[in-house]
Amino acid sequence: MKFEVTEHPNPTSGERIAEILQNPGFGTNFTDHTTVVDWSADAGWQDARIEPYGPITLDPAASVLHYASEIFEGMKAYLHADGSVYTFRPFANAARMNASARRMALPEIDEELFVQSLEVLVAKDKAWVPASDGEALYLRPFMFGTEAFLGVRPSQTVTYRVIASPAGNFFGGELKPVKIWVSRDYVRAAPGGTGAAKTGGNYAGSLAAQAQAAEKGCQQVLFLDPLHENAIEELGGMNVFLVTNDGCLLTPELTGTILEGVTRSSIIQLAKDRGLTVEERRVGLEEWAKGAADGTIVEAFACGTAAVVTPIGELLDGDQTITMTGDFSTTLALREELLGIQTGKVEDRHGWLHKL
Ligand code: COI
Repeated sequence: MKFEVTEHPNPTSGERIAEILQNPGFGTNFTDHTTVVDWSADAGWQDARIEPYGPITLDPAASVLHYASEIFEGMKAYLHADGSVYTFRPFANAARMNASARRMALPEIDEELFVQSLEVLVAKDKAWVPASDGEALYLRPFMFGTEAFLGVRPSQTVTYRVIASPAGNFFGGELKPVKIWVSRDYVRAAPGGTGAAKTGGNYAGSLAAQAQAAEKGCQQVLFLDPLHENAIEELGGMNVFLVTNDGCLLTPELTGTILEGVTRSSIIQLAKDRGLTVEERRVGLEEWAKGAADGTIVEAFACGTAAVVTPIGELLDGDQTITMTGDFSTTLALREELLGIQTGKVEDRHGWLHKL
């Protein structure tokens, strides 16, 4: 599809971009442009364009504002040493966006159009891609219902957009092990619900638990599945892995209540490539606590596009603390290899990179 381009009338100066890239933080600065493609039940996807970044005008009755008709993706663009920019497994994100769209009664988008929407935006705002280690341009494709209608049914008009934001460490500052709060008051998802969809409501529903976590000095919250003996599910915004003392990775299986992370599946592949055993199965919180205490579970980490691979140092469950005693060597080796592939320093043997 051809994208019409409207240039930003007052683009950010090179000096200001350099200042932002000195310390990008996470999710607070946005590039000058945004990709937009509109959809209507009558005409399908149409009117693809690049616009200056700015506020969106919405009808107060728009479907997204009342019935949370919204899905999104998280991806990154990485600057390689030769000046070219790549993204990572974009067709996997396109497929996941379409799985979310089916669950949330939003229209599927052609995978090629999804990838093209990233290509055109990064081509326009390439100056915003950070060059430092561990930093990248975070890409946020999202789609929402715009129809002004208070009857409850799928929106007949939808908009798809991509915004981009230079990103450093999601948890701020230097990489260090994070503390996780076990949510006993709230669950994230239930069988048949929307847990596997990347939809804003899942994140809105996690915020009260996340606020409790913050009160306890924790950076993320861990949700459990009380229907299955408190099996661990996922964190507020990322998947979770454990590492045993005999080099096995444990991660919750995809039961339909957790998100199928692209980072999660990449880590599983990289671990298998190293000869590690990966068990995707139900892991009870009790198994984690016992394993940490008797030294059979030594490392834990969070993973996602934003979090990359972040060691988990402690888990707080009420007044009990589960402490990971390992040296995080497996966690950090997997992180290093994943980032190495993404930034072009390690051979891309699975063909995961896509040039933008
Ligand atoms: C991502 O990892 O890209 C996400 O969408 C999660 C969010 C917590 C930033």
